[in-house]
Amino acid sequence: MKAIAVRDGAGEAELLELPQPEPAAGEALVRTLRVGVDGTDHEVIAGSHGGSPEGEDYLVLGHEAVGVVEDAHDTTLEKGDVVVPTVRRPPNGTNRYFENDEPDMAPDGQYHERGIVGAHGFMAEYFTSPESALIKLNPSLAEYGFLVEPISITEKALEHAEASRSAFEWAPESALVLGNGSLGLLTLAMFEHRFERTYCLGRRDRPDPTIDIIESLGSTYINSNDTPVSEIPETYEAPDLIYEATGYAKHPFESINALAPNGVLAALGVPNDWTFEINGGALHRELVLHNKAIVGSVNSNRRQFEAAVESLNSLSKPYLASLVTGVYDLESFEKAFANDDTTIKNAVQFSTYEKR
Ligand code: NAP
Ligand code: BGC
Ligand code: ZN
Repeated sequence: MKAIAVRDGAGEAELLELPQPEPAAGEALVRTLRVGVDGTDHEVIAGSHGGSPEGEDYLVLGHEAVGVVEDAHDTTLEKGDVVVPTVRRPPNGTNRYFENDEPDMAPDGQYHERGIVGAHGFMAEYFTSPESALIKLNPSLAEYGFLVEPISITEKALEHAEASRSAFEWAPESALVLGNGSLGLLTLAMFEHRFERTYCLGRRDRPDPTIDIIESLGSTYINSNDTPVSEIPETYEAPDLIYEATGYAKHPFESINALAPNGVLAALGVPNDWTFEINGGALHRELVLHNKAIVGSVNSNRRQFEAAVESLNSLSKPYLASLVTGVYDLESFEKAFANDDTTIKNAVQFSTYEKR
């Protein structure tokens, strides 16, 4: 079967011919439909995040997948079921995070992430997965099923942000998303009915398709070149929730001041090292005297994938269509990894639900 992989140090994805996997006990064989590409894939290809399985010199890419059960094997699934796999797997035998269904809370060394670190991903014509790591979805969602994984990332971040505000009557009205990439724009749509007012920060001038998409939701676009995060309260308002999806390392610190009193910041970005000066005393004081919270959030668990399926179902199809700027088959898979201002969310298509 064909698979898209990155060899260690190569800096670019390539097509490999690999044997079709066979399901082990408790696993199903899945025929891959589509696999999405996000900022993390670019970091993995560049070699700045993740790594190949131990003893191997390449990694099959892809962690945002949707597929169809080809062989249910000894699972309770059925051939033809549409499924989305979760990302984390136990590294060498199980551990308490996996036993508690909280693999997303496992520290380094206690998980592999398929397509990212230590385990091959889903960018292959077939993959196998334990039934416990497959979430079923209605076939009507198959087309956009590769968005379940990124949506689940936001389900988790929101769950943790809200939990941090659960000790009092928190009544958030406004939310600010930092970043107009695929994660930011998906999240903005999820916020549409949860907050009265939403804002989304990017660094692009008009005209730009992401600004049109932001405004199509009734959200306000903020250009960070005109209004840095720290100045947002004076120009717009101090948001109750800030969701950082830029990977720009100054943003979480600038957000502490920008938040409304009792507000919470969910930080999602994964930046490279960057040393800069901050006024630590002022930030410390601001956190304490205004009861602010910062929550870091990575990955997601089965419950959050299930919530993501519901969210995907509630998002407008025309909106999703505007985010998906390219779906490429294997012959032109390189195009899925292009990264320019016209790209929001790309995917590789391995097969179709209706026919192979
Ligand atoms: P992405 O497509 O690269 O999006 C990042 C966006 O932020 C881009 O649109 C970029 O603008 C914008 N941006 C960067 N610096 C900015 C600045 N100073 N001011 C305004 N806008 C700025 O990445 P993504 O896939 O959406 O993911 C976003 C981040 O979340 C990445 O760091 C990724 O690694 C991380 N992530 C984390 C998790 C998790 O579990 N924690 C899951 C998925 C992704 P331009 O396009 O104009 O450059
Ligand atoms: C993936 C998560 C993963 C994180 C860190 C994200 O792009 O969606 O599942 O935990 O990267 O590797
Ligand atoms: Zn991702």
